Amino acid sequence: MGVVASAPAKVILFGEHFVVYGEPAIVLAIDKRAYVKAEKRNDKKLFVRSTNLNLEGHFENGNFKVEKGDAREARLRFEPVKVAIGKVLEKHKDDVGLNIEINSTVPVAAGLGSSAAVVASVTAATAALLNMEMPKEEIFRVAYEAEKTVHGTPSGIDPAIATFGGTLLYQMDTGFKPLEVKADIPLVIGDTGVERSTKTQVEKVREMVDKYPRIAEPIMRVANEIVVNAIDALKENDLETLGELMNINHALLYGMKVSDESLEWLINAARKAGALGAKLTGAGGGGCMIALARNERLEQVTEAILRAGGRPFAARKTDEGVRIERT
Ligand code: MEV
Repeated sequence: MGVVASAPAKVILFGEHFVVYGEPAIVLAIDKRAYVKAEKRNDKKLFVRSTNLNLEGHFENGNFKVEKGDAREARLRFEPVKVAIGKVLEKHKDDVGLNIEINSTVPVAAGLGSSAAVVASVTAATAALLNMEMPKEEIFRVAYEAEKTVHGTPSGIDPAIATFGGTLLYQMDTGFKPLEVKADIPLVIGDTGVERSTKTQVEKVREMVDKYPRIAEPIMRVANEIVVNAIDALKENDLETLGELMNINHALLYGMKVSDESLEWLINAARKAGALGAKLTGAGGGGCMIALARNERLEQVTEAILRAGGRPFAARKTDEGVRIERT
């Protein structure tokens, strides 16, 4: 019994990091999802289990106790879950105990928005379990608050795409706008296997911006211009331009110190194998890269990423944001 909800992972095509400074970004939801089951308990505990991470623990009167796996890691991963549920229970005006089971197909700490997909699903599943009407705008707000507890100063792009799905143009002050993308975008994702924290990566960029304000300012303008050009290229399905823009975008991110050796290996391998463009995606410092390639080159690019030591996988864009799977 219980309610199961799910939400998608994402890749940022353009604009990560610069989005934190108010610039636009383009993000698409992909067909890898996090699944969360919520059930009521007879006591007031919040018990959380992550099947894929092999972690278990519970919160009781604000204290966390690990039951399986590393205590620090469990606390880090489950804290946003607790915050999201706390926000839902505030609206419910009744304190109930819950069992939350997370089952995710999204690699964690890899730049694909795994934690946002989990908190959006947790929020939707808990609200549905308690028979509360919760529009997507509200799920987004709760997930965003929860993300802030672990990511420092996130832009909100991850919870937005996990909640609404599709392909979005996202900007902090204006929110999101769905983008019409008719053609499929042939992408290969390459996971370096190097885990890193988004917060640390965002801080690295902050240091560079503070150190070189007059250099950072034109970089931000270029990042904005890349997105403006990419919107047209997406409309026209102009893959060559998109690839070139990805390469320029990656060069800016490299300059802001958020690439690393593991990413550079995979990006260079993909380009050599005929990708039209390649860049890191998400926070960088490890995590994932993406390569754009014409269909006839996808196989070579995939193989090149594998040979360079990465874990490649194909991903299709999906229109479906957070959804209830089963009540
Ligand atoms: C993380 O997926 C994207 C960043 O731009 C951080 C954020 O926007 O919150 C690095």
